[in-house]
Amino acid sequence: MEKLLVETPGSTYPVFIGEGIRNNCAELLQPLLSKKSKALIITDSHVNTLYGEDLETNLNSMLPTTLFTIPEGEQSKSIEAYENGLTACIEANLDRKSVIIALGGGVVGDIAGFIAATYMRGISFVQVPTTLLAQDSSVGGKTGINHRLGKNLIGAFHQPEAVVYDTLTLATLSDKEWRSGFAEMIKHAYIKDPEFLSWLKDNVTCMEDMKKNGLLQFLKRSIAIKADIVKEDEKEAGIRAYLNFGHTLGHALEKVSGYGHITHGEGVAAGMIFAMRLSNHLELAHWDIDIEKRWLENLGYPVHAASMQSPEALISAMKTDKKTTAGKLTFVLAEKPGFPFLQTVDESDVLFLLKAEKKERDFL
Ligand SMILES: NC(=O)c1ccc[n+]([C@@H]2O[C@H](COP(=O)([O-])OP(=O)(O)OC[C@H]3O[C@@H](n4cnc5c(N)ncnc54)[C@H](O)[C@@H]3O)[C@@H](O)[C@H]2O)c1
Repeated sequence: MEKLLVETPGSTYPVFIGEGIRNNCAELLQPLLSKKSKALIITDSHVNTLYGEDLETNLNSMLPTTLFTIPEGEQSKSIEAYENGLTACIEANLDRKSVIIALGGGVVGDIAGFIAATYMRGISFVQVPTTLLAQDSSVGGKTGINHRLGKNLIGAFHQPEAVVYDTLTLATLSDKEWRSGFAEMIKHAYIKDPEFLSWLKDNVTCMEDMKKNGLLQFLKRSIAIKADIVKEDEKEAGIRAYLNFGHTLGHALEKVSGYGHITHGEGVAAGMIFAMRLSNHLELAHWDIDIEKRWLENLGYPVHAASMQSPEALISAMKTDKKTTAGKLTFVLAEKPGFPFLQTVDESDVLFLLKAEKKERDFL
């Protein structure tokens, strides 16, 4: 088992990573749980069938534990599911000394974290991530839900008190979810670690490569990159915004294609290529788009996803992005790997490129 520490101005917490460690949760978390009155596991309907009962039994050996389930999928990051979660907390008689355990992927982590951030003005929570994507979402304390008009528009910063990442749970993930999670790992490499990026490009050229032995090392490296950024800028006043590389278009794609139709990571992958194109178009970079695109395409990412949607609808979705200020679109662009920056961009430039992508696809 590996242990990393995430340091933020307000707290320091451990991230445990290892095979089968969810079965030792009670023991690993003993110092924390021994001070708590009760635990409520929040999970989704699918993860519950796989890992819910085991975790509930394990935690019950330490403190009274119940479990609440939300339907699986992005649609559950909703105001309705949030209210249902709060009702579950009240019905389980959670008090200010209780702890919420988020068992699942980024959706569960985001909504359960937001419930923990707001129930009784904030109680403790622990992340037990079960997707590859959650190597990103379970660390850093961003919690929240979607509004029907835009993604992640409602939320709070609320750090977990621990993260228990059992890599054995990844064995039951579909290829689509592996791909989704891997996109955030690639993003970390693009924005912060050119050496890691080169290594990934040389060693991960197909789906199977993602699952190979180096996984634990990938995870550690990727989580360490995220932890470094969060340490420097917990509340996204500066460099943390770079973690949104690929997300302006990615979030718009998720919304316009209907939440759940394109995974978060697929949207981010298409968005990263778009951000590189935009960087070139504005003469701020010289990316070899074909090379970058080919790598991601070979890994199965829908790099042309934007060309299937109306450019105007995508622009309108981007305007609800949290980075948009006074109606101006803001993107994380990059000069080259390891050199991201924030840039306000004219709508006409974005529209031009989106239309060009559409034309390119029609031509193919
Ligand atoms: N808070 C953050 O910093 C942050 C960062 C990145 C992404 N996110 C959010 O994360 C969400 C996406 O997360 P996700 O991709 O993990 O989605 P998810 O939680 O919806 O999980 C994807 C699917 O995999 C299933 N699943 C989960 N674990 C499984 C397992 N071990 N075996 C089999 N199936 C499993 C789930 O039931 C679900 O159907 C998005 O809402 C995104 O906005 C948050």
